[in-house]
Amino acid sequence: MSLTPPCESFDPDAVAADDRDCLWHHIKPHHLFQSAEQPVIASGDGLVVRDIRGREYLDAASGGVWSVIVGYGRRAIARAVAHQLETLPYYAGVLGTVPAARLARALVDRLPGMDKIFFSNSGSEANEKAFKLVRQAARLGRDRAGKVKILYRDRDYHGTTLATLSATGQAERRRGFEPLCPGFVQVPHPLCYRCPFELSYPGCEMRCATEVERIIESEGPDTVGALIVEPITAGGGIIVPRDEYLPMIERICRRHGLWLIIDEVVCGFGRTGVFWGHQHFGISPDIVTMAKGMAGGYEPLSATAVRPEIFQRFLNDPADPGQRLNYFRDISTYGGCTGPMAAALETLRIIDAEDLVGNSRRMGTYLLDRLRELADMPLVGDVRGRGLFCGVELVADKKTKQPISEALMGRIVAAINARGVLVGRTNASLPGNNTIMNFAPALIVTREQIDQIVDAVKAVLAQRWRD
Ligand SMILES: Cc1ncc(COP(=O)(O)O)c(C=O)c1O
Repeated sequence: MSLTPPCESFDPDAVAADDRDCLWHHIKPHHLFQSAEQPVIASGDGLVVRDIRGREYLDAASGGVWSVIVGYGRRAIARAVAHQLETLPYYAGVLGTVPAARLARALVDRLPGMDKIFFSNSGSEANEKAFKLVRQAARLGRDRAGKVKILYRDRDYHGTTLATLSATGQAERRRGFEPLCPGFVQVPHPLCYRCPFELSYPGCEMRCATEVERIIESEGPDTVGALIVEPITAGGGIIVPRDEYLPMIERICRRHGLWLIIDEVVCGFGRTGVFWGHQHFGISPDIVTMAKGMAGGYEPLSATAVRPEIFQRFLNDPADPGQRLNYFRDISTYGGCTGPMAAALETLRIIDAEDLVGNSRRMGTYLLDRLRELADMPLVGDVRGRGLFCGVELVADKKTKQPISEALMGRIVAAINARGVLVGRTNASLPGNNTIMNFAPALIVTREQIDQIVDAVKAVLAQRWRD
């Protein structure tokens, strides 16, 4: 595999002008263009991306938001997609297609206890489907009548649409979009480093989990239908819960008839060293949502997986006068695109053939060990993570845990980028605390590449920084 020469098929000046003048970048303050041209990415190979000026970067964020899990330049995925598009590009999800059926089977086989897969296009959409299942089920069966509220956790992110934003515990992302949807209730996060109760483990007796039960009881268990959580919180700052946390949460959900929705949009497909993030904790979710790495970032695709008991609630019953609602009343036009499913099937094949989950586990341990070397540096407050998903939280004062300023955070990340390494960071999400860098390279990463990433971060943090 070789990188496409950057200037072969385009004029870099023209592309830079198009980028500056016409493209509305996502979550980017556009005043940045006034001081400097912004990189425009042109090609990629393995873990390396190259911009239109020929500069190369080692991508420690799998495409910025953790999607390109098998690396760039996978011709086998491109070929699988091309072949599928020539055969059949699309048919709406009301009917099956060959890759949809095959992929549904491949996912069911990897999700013990689940037996139906509903496809859509983005992580937000997959979570919206989960919420709509909860709401519609509350109208279908007497045992769930009224159970329409959905609990979500402080610091978790579940998407960009208004309903998923209503289920997102990141105040800065919500700000400016109110009024949000009713029926979503926040519960505490489980990050020990910033315990919401200012307690310490194990003396806290897992208050972050027991508090969830208190909230359900105060809301009224007959009004609450589900709890959605990320197994390991991603954009909220890489939060790995204590081992007993999710099993406790699962038991609380069972006691009160809540469906446990596990958002595997980021953690799924090997990111954290096991295939699904929730497998670290030995729990059995009712609904699992997935996206990002599912099609390797080569195509947009997401899915909502459910247990048989949930699917059966939506079976048609011609004798039921209420049958108009007796199927899941939902459709996603592009959930019928077959190219993404071909990409996902090929991604799964690559994950297995190259033991990328094993590599994520092994290289993840190495990455965390290497990042822990930074723990004594003046700005480093906390280092945490699991598998190839690690975070480093920067603070101005290690004792008070006062975060560094966002301006300084921006300068530090820019300095790392300037060394040719792209890292992720919390971004306009957590008021006053968007100072957590994240490291999530593609699952093919090598020890040498991890060294390159950590060495760049170490060199930058070793400089004298003034806030
Ligand atoms: C945990 C989690 N869930 C859902 C989403 C939303 O996915 P999408 O951007 O594909 O809508 C994201 C996106 O970053 C995410 O991190």
